This record gives sequence, structure tokens and C-alpha cells, in this order.
Amino acid sequence: MRLAKYIQQCLENHLRNGSRVLDATAGNGYDTLRAAQLVKPNGEIVAIDIQASAIKATKKKLTEARLESLSKLIHGEHGTIMESMNYDAYFDAIIFNLGFLPGSDKKIITKANSTLSALEQSMRLLKADGLLFVTAYRGHAGGLNESIAVRGWMQTMREQSCPFSWNILEIQSNFKTDTLLEDSANKDSPILWIGSKTALNLPKLPLH
Ligand SMILES: C[S@@+](CC[C@H](N)C(=O)[O-])C[C@H]1O[C@@H](n2cnc3c(N)ncnc32)[C@H](O)[C@@H]1O
Repeated sequence: MRLAKYIQQCLENHLRNGSRVLDATAGNGYDTLRAAQLVKPNGEIVAIDIQASAIKATKKKLTEARLESLSKLIHGEHGTIMESMNYDAYFDAIIFNLGFLPGSDKKIITKANSTLSALEQSMRLLKADGLLFVTAYRGHAGGLNESIAVRGWMQTMREQSCPFSWNILEIQSNFKTDTLLEDSANKDSPILWIGSKTALNLPKLPLH
């Protein structure tokens, strides 16, 4: 099973009609569309991307699925936009799919500093029982550094006690948990972190 499929299972388990989802990296709109299908007809989707072409692609998918009315698409930098959102504990799920937009300029990638500031905002924007999904890729230039930075952030969230510690699960693409990023067998494979302020209630991990 691929990590994306496991994320989908987690979202199916967690979201319902009326839920609210923030997709911090809309890209080609696949994650946004899947989330919209799970929260319709009364839910809400906010999707952000730094590239106009990504927002256009996402809008097209939502329009074709007749789900554009429950979505708000925002063209810009996710850390800045999330900082300007003046509501706390609002989203049931926040999704980051890091890296570059397939089929477009590979130089436009998520970068550690802005990813970390958007993750900081996620703490405030996520409901107490909300789920944070972050998928990172190590194969492209800058990807390993970003993955290491994200892992450091996750570790800090896990260890902090004030205002609370996060429950965080790290899953490698072979569904092994908690192995060293630099040492893992397939350095190009993605890594998924799932976090919550409350106990994680997730579907069983596939056997590996
Ligand atoms: C791997 S793609 C996302 C794929 C997407 N989830 C999908 O389902 O197609 C990563 C996206 O992050 C976007 N991105 C990069 N840096 C960003 C930033 N600072 N703020 C918002 N989006 C950013 C890129 O433009 C790209 O579209």
C-alpha cells in the first residue's frame, strides 16, 4: 500500500459531512478533491498554493466534481496566509504534501523555513482532535534537508509539555516507523508524519 492510500484511509475514518480541511499545498488538486468528496455537502475546504497554475488545476478539478462551492482557493505562501487566518482550532485536518508540483518547474519547491512557519500555524488552526498530515520527499534537491527540519520540528512537538505534547507517528514508505532518515534503505522514498493534540485513532498500519 502507498502512503497516499493510507492517508486516504485515515481521512475517510476521520472526516464527515461538515468537516473542515486545509490543504496547505494544493498542487494539482488531488488531495483537495479527495478531501472535498469526504466533507460534502456542508463541509469546507481551504487550499493554498504558491503557484497560480496549481490553483487553476485545483479549481478545475473541484468545478468538474461540482464541489467548488465548498472550497476557497488561495494563491500565495502558506505560512503567511495561515498566519493571517484569525480563527483558532478551526480545521479537522491539515494536509501538507511537500516538494514540487509534478509536471511543472522543479525549482519551485517547499522549503524548510516556510514549511516550519506554516507548521507552527497549524498548531493554532487545528482542532483539539484534528489530524495533521505531512508527507516529505528526500529525492529532490533540498528534499532531505527539509525532511530533516520537519522531523526536528515533529520531535520538538512530541517532547514539549507546554501547552501540551503532540502525539506524532512517523511512517516510512515501507510502513516501518521510527528509522533514521539518513540511514533508511531507500533515501528517495517519502516519509509521512501524522500528528494530533489528542491520542491518535488511526486505521491499522498495513503489514510490511
Ligand atoms: C507535491 S506538490 C502538492 C501536490 C498536491 N497535494 C496534489 O494533490 O496534487 C507541492 C506543492 O507545494 C507548492 N508550494 C511550494 N512552496 C509553497 C509555499 N511556500 N506555499 C504554498 N505552496 C507551496 C508547490 O507549488 C506545489 O504545487
